[in-house]
Amino acid sequence: MIFQSAKSLRGEVTIPGDKSISHRAVMFGSLAEGLTEVTNFLQGADCLSTIEAFRNMGIEIENTPEKILIHGKGLHGLQAPASILDMGNSGTTTRLISGILAGQPFESTLTGDASIQKRPMRRIMEPLSMMGAHITSIKGNDCAPLQIAGRPLHAIHYQSKVASAQVKSAVLLAGLYADGITRVTEPAISRNHTELMLRYFGADLHTEEKTAAISPNPHLTGQKINVPGDISSAAYFMAAGLIVPDSEILIHNVGINPTRDGILKVCRQMGGNITLLNVKNNGEPVADLLVKSSSLHGITIQGDIIPTLIDELPIINIMAACAKGTTIIRDAAELKVKESNRIDVMVQYLSAMGCDITGTEDGMIIRGGAPLHGTTVDSHLDHRIAMSFAIASLIADGETQIKGSDVVTISYPGFYEDLAGLMH
Ligand code: S3P
Repeated sequence: MIFQSAKSLRGEVTIPGDKSISHRAVMFGSLAEGLTEVTNFLQGADCLSTIEAFRNMGIEIENTPEKILIHGKGLHGLQAPASILDMGNSGTTTRLISGILAGQPFESTLTGDASIQKRPMRRIMEPLSMMGAHITSIKGNDCAPLQIAGRPLHAIHYQSKVASAQVKSAVLLAGLYADGITRVTEPAISRNHTELMLRYFGADLHTEEKTAAISPNPHLTGQKINVPGDISSAAYFMAAGLIVPDSEILIHNVGINPTRDGILKVCRQMGGNITLLNVKNNGEPVADLLVKSSSLHGITIQGDIIPTLIDELPIINIMAACAKGTTIIRDAAELKVKESNRIDVMVQYLSAMGCDITGTEDGMIIRGGAPLHGTTVDSHLDHRIAMSFAIASLIADGETQIKGSDVVTISYPGFYEDLAGLMH
């Protein structure tokens, strides 16, 4: 797909539901007794992989344009899958479902696309094995395909080395099937949607600072969930509104959970004009965001804020390229093991556009302010790379070609249409 610069962006956009919350709604709804109704569910490829996996384990899930209906069968209601579970491109499905499968009285095999088969799984294999599950990487490389033989599980207190909501959630979900209270402590607090939503379904789950603790065998009951808009998807329009001159965008119904709102803080620290309107809280806080063009300056981003904006770092790179001065990103080595190596890929293509950027072991240094020019970008089948460079193209001279641009269907199927709707 070919992109050109934009003179200004104006209008309103309602972005689709949150990916992390949509996955969890299907998973926890399947483990609950009775009906769970989910509105504003993200119809992205990753979340559809989660639906298919639970259907494959005997859960009836109706997917209509208005809502998802999950006919949950309770904690012990899953059946052995009829075939290999296909995770597609979804790391969240793979890691969270492994925690659930670890406690089932059956064996299962799960696999996914070429990217999933390269993502590190040792991080969940280790704690789940400590709890007593038999979990093996079929190719012996600590990646999927994985074979999981469920077992009665022991409760553990797991000290995670990475601030990862996927690891934390895998252990907490296995904890539903353990023989005592399971605890996870992480080095910095990652997104807490599992904790909030499991409690909403009836789990006995407590958090204190960086530790979450769950009691086994709760009675989970089906619920109604209205998924907030995904701040990770809103981030592209926040950045676009700030960097494209003469712009004003109103983004409706964005989830602003404090474990996810690092992008908002960074935009403001960089000098971005973003106003929160209509702030509400129905379990997860949401707001409308009014974004106006701003002149940005470089900042340092490091430490505990990193897990709260980990998926937004590619688009933050684009803002940093447009900002005056230097932006330094540290403590973000996790970028190397996302859908692509996001340090290498961002450095490669932002350099090709004329930006002064250097990759480091755990982040990047961006000396912003140089004019950007169009180039050819390969998305590396990474949705966040494709969307980040689509936004960069709006302020670049000439044409930007994005190869593999269709990959946005993973998290934001209507992204290009919504962007086009703001151009005048
Ligand atoms: C997610 C957690 C994060 C994030 C991913 C979604 C989740 O991954 O990058 O897009 O829904 O739990 P990590 O747990 O690997 O940091």
